[in-house]
Amino acid sequence: MIVGIPQEIIPGEKRVALVPEGVEKLIEANLEVLVQSGAGEKAGYSDASYEKAGAGIEADAAGLYSRADIVLKVREPAADSGSGEGEVESFRNDTALISFIFPASNPEIVKRLEEKNIRCFAMELMPRITRAQSMDALSSMSSIAGYQAVLIAAEILPKFFPMLMTAAGTITPAKVLVLGAGVAGLQAIATAKRLGAVVEAYDIRPVVKEQVESLGAKFIELEVETEDAEDSGGYATEQGEETQEKIRKLLLERIAQSDAVITTALVPGKKAPLLMTREMVEAMSAGALVVDLAAEQGGNCELTEPGKTVEHNGVKVIGPVDLPSTMAVHASDMYSRNISTYLLHLVNDGKLNLDPEDELVTGPRVSGKMDPPAEKEPGADEESEPGTGEPTDG
Ligand code: NAI
Repeated sequence: MIVGIPQEIIPGEKRVALVPEGVEKLIEANLEVLVQSGAGEKAGYSDASYEKAGAGIEADAAGLYSRADIVLKVREPAADSGSGEGEVESFRNDTALISFIFPASNPEIVKRLEEKNIRCFAMELMPRITRAQSMDALSSMSSIAGYQAVLIAAEILPKFFPMLMTAAGTITPAKVLVLGAGVAGLQAIATAKRLGAVVEAYDIRPVVKEQVESLGAKFIELEVETEDAEDSGGYATEQGEETQEKIRKLLLERIAQSDAVITTALVPGKKAPLLMTREMVEAMSAGALVVDLAAEQGGNCELTEPGKTVEHNGVKVIGPVDLPSTMAVHASDMYSRNISTYLLHLVNDGKLNLDPEDELVTGPRVSGKMDPPAEKEPGADEESEPGTGEPTDG
């Protein structure tokens, strides 16, 4: 089977789904790899590096889609623009697709994928279980975002992060507060600690206290009753407005004393919880800042605008989007390992082998019949239900 790697077409997207290291692995598994010319360029991988790894190069997207049996992508395919030129329209019927999809935000795309019987698997719906850890692209990308958020803060804050003893006196370290200590938050804590800041963190799930402390940060414990803060999948649950208001009141003092607040709090499938109101931003000192990693999911701060920096009373509220793409080399390397490991899980002897009992098949599944056309029983045209895993949109 031919695995196609197209160039990403969403403006600003620099990542590529598969890097040359991944090409070699797929070829060892009896797959052919075809890369669109220039697909890896913005991530530092030339056509020559793909050819050296054993891939074929296809001049354009139309040629690639006409030959690929399985397409690996980073971003959801663009829907039909009305002129029949969207990426989804270019796929041959029955192709398989593995990509970030975010079905809840892209229902039109999913509908069209279903109509074309594209067997589509969403990387963000990968079950977060031990055997799927190496396929967990959401964690890879969150980790990059957490790291980048701190670098943005360090660059913009008009202060040093570390403590310095200089001839001009002692500089006190910056105070960094991280709200939400999941994958992105923990990476933000680790990065801010490495830069020498004094770091504290809060999360609705008390279970992360130990992880926060193991990174050398202080965990803020609040006197608030939160029932079932964590669901069976290890994710946070949505809190009622009354509880959230109590949390905000108790966090106010910590926020007011912080130089940089990095917010990362998300609840799968819901709008991001509001952790910082306008009044809380007003309590911060001029020159302080907020980096809101939940910007695309509605923001953890009332003043956040996705993709923009808002200045209010001398405090900057930064709402970065697409942070993983800004670190395209390592983001592509990590994503490539995640997606190639997943594809190899779905392939047996060079063919797709989709086990309907396997939660790594049913969880990420978005559309399409699960049996490959070649192995279809005559008359077997019934569709099973699409996957119901909950996406962390964005
Ligand atoms: P996420 O991106 O959904 O949320 C980020 C953080 O925000 C979470 O720690 C959450 O507890 C926190 N949060 C939500 N609402 C909040 C509120 N109102 N106030 C303060 N904090 C709030 O979560 P992420 O980072 O994707 O992972 C969460 C957990 O999933 C991990 O800590 C872990 O338990 C589990 N996980 C398991 C993996 C595996 O076993 N393969 C891999 C990755 C994560």
